Amino acid sequence: MLKLPGLIDPHVHLREPGATHKEDYDSGTSAALAGGITMVLAMPNTRPPIFDAETLDLALTAAKGKARCDYAQFLGAGPNNGDWDKNKGLPQRAAGLKMYLDSTFGELRLDDMTLWMPHFETFPKELPIVAHSESRSMASAILFAAIYDRPVHIAHISLKEEVLLIKAARERGIQVTCEVCPHHLFLTKEVPPPTLRATSPNFAEIGGGLGGGRAEVRPRLATQEDVDSLWANLDVIDCFATDHAPHTVEEKDSDNPPPGFPGLETILPLLLTAVSEKRLSLDALIEKMHTNPKRIFNLPDQPETWVEVDEKAIYEIKAADQFTRCGWTPFEGWKVKGKVRKVVLRGQTAFEDGRILVPAGYGIDIRQEIS
Ligand code: DOR
Ligand code: ZN
Repeated sequence: MLKLPGLIDPHVHLREPGATHKEDYDSGTSAALAGGITMVLAMPNTRPPIFDAETLDLALTAAKGKARCDYAQFLGAGPNNGDWDKNKGLPQRAAGLKMYLDSTFGELRLDDMTLWMPHFETFPKELPIVAHSESRSMASAILFAAIYDRPVHIAHISLKEEVLLIKAARERGIQVTCEVCPHHLFLTKEVPPPTLRATSPNFAEIGGGLGGGRAEVRPRLATQEDVDSLWANLDVIDCFATDHAPHTVEEKDSDNPPPGFPGLETILPLLLTAVSEKRLSLDALIEKMHTNPKRIFNLPDQPETWVEVDEKAIYEIKAADQFTRCGWTPFEGWKVKGKVRKVVLRGQTAFEDGRILVPAGYGIDIRQEIS
């Protein structure tokens, strides 16, 4: 048995409030525990979006009654909530501020850079700003970090140009950190893996790329060259994050498929398989799923918390075995090595051999309660 510290996922979509048929704080945090994750930071692109005291309370009230692992909730940057000085104390109750600088799922988006400025000026520097920013808008976000002399964390990088620019910016002392998701490390847009083709009729090959609604995700799946570059520059990547973005299998297979992949239950086995293949060291995995997110997002210790993994167990990923409500996974049928056996969270066995053992509401808001 391999013993790991409680893993942290700084990027999940739990769909509460507003779309609990896809996921809620209960099913999402159960999926987290089953995946060896003991703390999640929840994104604000819900319905309504989380952007002020009232909507933050809405999400945190749901979380308090339902969460099974520990959590914090992000606030979203909108066009009219940029003066955080007017809302003293509110940022401290949140995981941090999420800024959507490119179009994606949900209503939160800031097209005009004048709308970015007040957020960078007034959001407390000791709390994280996370940017959904791709390619050139990522370069703009890094410029903002330099101008306003504050850290910025770039969500889900996927491109060679992104990892190389972050490296260069950091070498010049700009405070920029980043995360990468398993789907951008293990999938490309070019060749659908055989398992995807076999299990998903929707993955027609269109012009040599992945077709079908299930392949829709933002940022999009990239080229093999991009994927190779992420693996070659793992030392630049601070965190692994899932961007767990559950949409039901019916929605993904519809004529208007929303972008997003579930990921909480597959991140650890996929990465442990990479460890077993010597593409990644165990130390790097722990650094990117525990040590670094804890530092970057200013997260507390979880005492008496650990994950036990059978690192020799080989098994097939199956949506039918998962706790997420969405009913599918882009990794259906993949053979992985490394299975979560047991999760102990603050002294209680929270998950063991496929069963969740702590009640809804066991999870705590790490920004409110000292664990
Ligand atoms: O694919 C995505 N899905 N990318 C995002 O940025 C949002 C997410 C969602 O909430 O579904
Ligand atoms: Zn996301």
